[in-house]
Amino acid sequence: MSRKNLSKLDAPKHITNYEKKLEDNDFIISKTDTRGKIIYCNEIFTDMSGYDAADLIGANHNLIRHPDMPKIAFKIVWDLIQQQKEFFGFVKNLRKDGDYYWVFASITADLDDKGNIISYTSVRRKPPQSAIDIITPVYKLLVDAEKSGGIDSSKKLLSDFLAEKETTYEELVTALQLGAK
Ligand SMILES: Cc1cc2nc3c(=O)[nH]c(=O)nc-3n(C[C@H](O)[C@H](O)[C@H](O)COP(=O)(O)O)c2cc1C
Repeated sequence: MSRKNLSKLDAPKHITNYEKKLEDNDFIISKTDTRGKIIYCNEIFTDMSGYDAADLIGANHNLIRHPDMPKIAFKIVWDLIQQQKEFFGFVKNLRKDGDYYWVFASITADLDDKGNIISYTSVRRKPPQSAIDIITPVYKLLVDAEKSGGIDSSKKLLSDFLAEKETTYEELVTALQLGAK
């Protein structure tokens, strides 16, 4: 019998305010095809997301997309990885039971011997609480901007925020992961 591939349409509608924290030495790993369909995940991914591996394999990675994540964050992801550049960033993910967990994610393209992208790999670890405390209100502003003015509005807000702090997206996330306050 064929099995339905899950996506964000199958995500829980009841979202809680309960956070599940990653352990200090845990790494969540997944691999997707070129369109973002999961082709591999490790056991910590299943523990943290609350889904069985059988549900995750074949699912669109947006299955665990949290509504508190701004669209612009994923635009940055795809723009970078399709250019074979590494993405680093903070991602709030939605568990199957409606709880959430924060990660510091790296996403990169996997290339064949001709340099073509064949898949993508993401490795995530625990972010410091100081980073989550800074990123949470920034993401809220971006999500609110997107609700009224779409992604153009959050893009402008983000670039104004970075200009005001005299930093770049990469510098900011690296500093936050190192514990800058
Ligand atoms: C390797 C890889 C890992 C990803 N990991 C996540 C993730 O953990 N959480 C998430 O929400 N999106 C992740 N994404 C991005 C999703 O593919 C998708 O762009 C995002 O969930 C937004 O989906 P939507 O535009 O359909 O709402 C990942 C993408 C790739 C290529």
